[in-house]
Amino acid sequence: MPTLNTSMQGKICMVTGATSGIGKETALGLAQMGATVVLVGRDHARGEAAQSEIKTKSGNNAVDLLLADLSSQESIRQLAESFLQKYTQLHVLINNAGVFMLTRRETVDGLETTFAVNQLAPFLLTNLLLDVLKASAPARIVNVSSDAHEAGYIKMDDLQAEKQYRFMRPYGQSKLAVVLFTYELARRLEGTGVTANCLHPGFVATNIGQSGVGSVGRAVVKFIFSNLGISAEEGAKTSIYLASSPDVEGVTGKYFVKSIPKRSAAISYDETLQRQLWEESARLVKLPVKA
Ligand SMILES: NC(=O)c1ccc[n+]([C@@H]2O[C@H](COP(=O)([O-])OP(=O)(O)OC[C@H]3O[C@@H](n4cnc5c(N)ncnc54)[C@H](OP(=O)(O)O)[C@@H]3O)[C@@H](O)[C@H]2O)c1
Repeated sequence: MPTLNTSMQGKICMVTGATSGIGKETALGLAQMGATVVLVGRDHARGEAAQSEIKTKSGNNAVDLLLADLSSQESIRQLAESFLQKYTQLHVLINNAGVFMLTRRETVDGLETTFAVNQLAPFLLTNLLLDVLKASAPARIVNVSSDAHEAGYIKMDDLQAEKQYRFMRPYGQSKLAVVLFTYELARRLEGTGVTANCLHPGFVATNIGQSGVGSVGRAVVKFIFSNLGISAEEGAKTSIYLASSPDVEGVTGKYFVKSIPKRSAAISYDETLQRQLWEESARLVKLPVKA
């Protein structure tokens, strides 16, 4: 029987994309510290498999599962509602779920999938859970970005990549958007006891890139990631650190790599762009723009 470390006992943590890769290892790490962990997955069978694996490996039974397709705004709203019906506190929200799509696909809301899942889903879910996070303070929001944000640029007139969809551009844009969102969020949350940080997990051998490409593309991506990437356990370390370490209590508005704060791309510090992106994201998910 695994022995529980109790450093996160009494803390309620939500991890999106907890059915695979970095998210599953992050959820396991937090369960091993005694937290109550709410896994978010889109597929019932994969969700139950992850839940059962995490319970067994951690020896912690407080591992819950909520289902949501984060490419659908209605599903995200239902997820927040289901969470709030069951829980009155949320101490850690880890926006981890993400996609890397080599071809352009639209969501049920008519939005480009990479931008919808990687940026708009964290934006909407976080905003829907902000009141409970504030009421649970000290609380932490951890957004999984990528060093791919450094090559990213925001095209406010083509956020949906309708004019041009080229290889890494939508992914880089979405991960830069996550950094811009985190910095704006941290500023808006000043004085609330809720922190917001983002991170690059490393180049990690996971299932990333397995949607939206043909079988040859999928095999090539899989080959590259599984041969060159670090393990998902290693890749989860910075997320777990930001979610749980006393070293980062009160630290906010930073970008971390290997659990160390690093400067992100120069453009990510542009406060006008941060605000513009916030307002456009709010418009796209139908939240009040100035809230
Ligand atoms: N791997 C890397 O080298 C790397 C590098 C930098 C950043 N990242 C970031 O790390 C995060 C985790 O990715 P990973 O590498 O662990 O990839 P992964 O193994 O593919 O895991 C992605 C997770 O997101 C979930 N997900 C995807 N689309 C979803 C949707 N529409 N609704 C709900 N859940 C959805 C997946 O669910 P299913 O199991 O149902 O597919 C899965 O649980 C992502 O944000 C990624 O961009 C990864």
